[in-house]
Amino acid sequence: MPSDDFGQIRLQLEQYHQEHVLRWWDRMDSRQQERLMRQLMEIDFPQMQKLSGLIRQNHGKTPLSMQPAEVIPLPETPDEIRAASQARELGERMIREGRVCAFVVAGGQGTRLGFDGPKGCFPVGPVSGKSLFQMHAEKIRAASARYRTVIPWYIMTSEANDAETRAFFEQHEYFGFQSRDVYFFKQGMLPALDESGRFIMDSRDHIFTSPDGHGGSLTALVRSGAIEDMKKRNIDVISYFQIDNVLIQIVDPLFIGFHCQAAAEMSSKMVRKSNPYEKVGHFGRVNGKLRVFEYSDMSAEDMEARNEDGRLKYEAGSIGIHLIHPDFVEKETRSGTALPFHVAHKKIPCLNEDGEIRIPDRPNGYKFETFIFDALQDTTRSVILEVRRDHEFSPVKNKDGEDSPRTAGRDLSNYFGEWLEAAGMTLPRDTEGNVQGQAEISPLYADTMEAFQKKARINKEFSGSFYQDKE
Ligand code: UD1
Repeated sequence: MPSDDFGQIRLQLEQYHQEHVLRWWDRMDSRQQERLMRQLMEIDFPQMQKLSGLIRQNHGKTPLSMQPAEVIPLPETPDEIRAASQARELGERMIREGRVCAFVVAGGQGTRLGFDGPKGCFPVGPVSGKSLFQMHAEKIRAASARYRTVIPWYIMTSEANDAETRAFFEQHEYFGFQSRDVYFFKQGMLPALDESGRFIMDSRDHIFTSPDGHGGSLTALVRSGAIEDMKKRNIDVISYFQIDNVLIQIVDPLFIGFHCQAAAEMSSKMVRKSNPYEKVGHFGRVNGKLRVFEYSDMSAEDMEARNEDGRLKYEAGSIGIHLIHPDFVEKETRSGTALPFHVAHKKIPCLNEDGEIRIPDRPNGYKFETFIFDALQDTTRSVILEVRRDHEFSPVKNKDGEDSPRTAGRDLSNYFGEWLEAAGMTLPRDTEGNVQGQAEISPLYADTMEAFQKKARINKEFSGSFYQDKE
């Protein structure tokens, strides 16, 4: 390593009060020294200085003064039904013309699920045991087949899971995709800071870093060349989704149609919250700007607030599904990221006095993330579409309880149970209306209830488990 570089870095470390990272320098071999230097050269010190200001701010929950955001409701009236059918037609045309791509953010660490590996590799198929990645892949391929087009799939990983994710795709032969139509790229990482704003070492030659949030996907899309690739393919609509939702409708002509009709820059799907404390973001307008507020930033009073008609005041739940125009991504990133940072107080592995790693029993540092939905406030045109929870939203977040593999399996079985009933099968349901047993249908066999009804020849009796693979 040139000694000039070392001198420069040392100066910077002194200037920003981070010299402690060189504490073990003299006891490291040249390979370790190089590793640490490489990492230090990538750190944006002025930015980290700014972020350290955030940890001293008060993160208390201030009352919201949010106006409701306009939403396209589930179609009920003849006018709404007509509008939906026009939107669907436009959406179908966009897909057929190859102007839509799929984009999943899969850089998160899935800590709550307690799964050792990329969350997309987690098995969720209630009968097949298919992984989240495979389920999503089959949906995208089914849409490509239906519309006789190629829908490319962009996948954002992070330093922590990139290699494993790529290996998983190779091992499964890209789930039937041509490898050129699957585009992996990594999101950025940011150092965490301790209580006094100093970097946290997780080994003698490495500073602890964590993914910079799904908002980091905007810069990562540009930096990685993914946006350039989209432009070459004449893509106008990026269908953005999170890895964890097993009921996701990835390529939805209705949503695409409404979004394109409005010439929107970024649009969103919403469900009505199931209960005041559901852990979702909330749509609303503040000073005319569209915003999403996280449940974790809201007071109990706001969560429980009701209108005169008894409905929750903040009931429009964000489910992490957006359509984004590639030009909007470029606009947002033109002068670095425009998104605000959010701070999370966490337990971060760190070295003790003897240079050995330990996991603290209390939060000891701060991680910094940006959120994609903060870009909504920069839109001039945006659509929010209400969708049915039982058809479109069931995330796998926790090991047990709500939003777990168990609830995802239940929701998938209920969803496909409807298809089986429509095709003439009788299914036992419990007092809450849940199918007693498991049902699963590959989208490569049928991607809608109507397609299934046309194709399927099934027994009337349900044996407790039903699985239909691609043929
Ligand atoms: C998220 C939303 C919440 C929404 C809910 C719906 C946030 C902050 N909140 O909650 O408004 O109602 O989903 O399910 O997102 N990810 C990355 N890189 C990162 C961080 C996350 O790719 O640095 C990805 C994850 O892999 C996942 C998605 O972003 O696909 C959501 O992250 P997660 O931490 O699970 O968000 P939630 O808190 O569950």
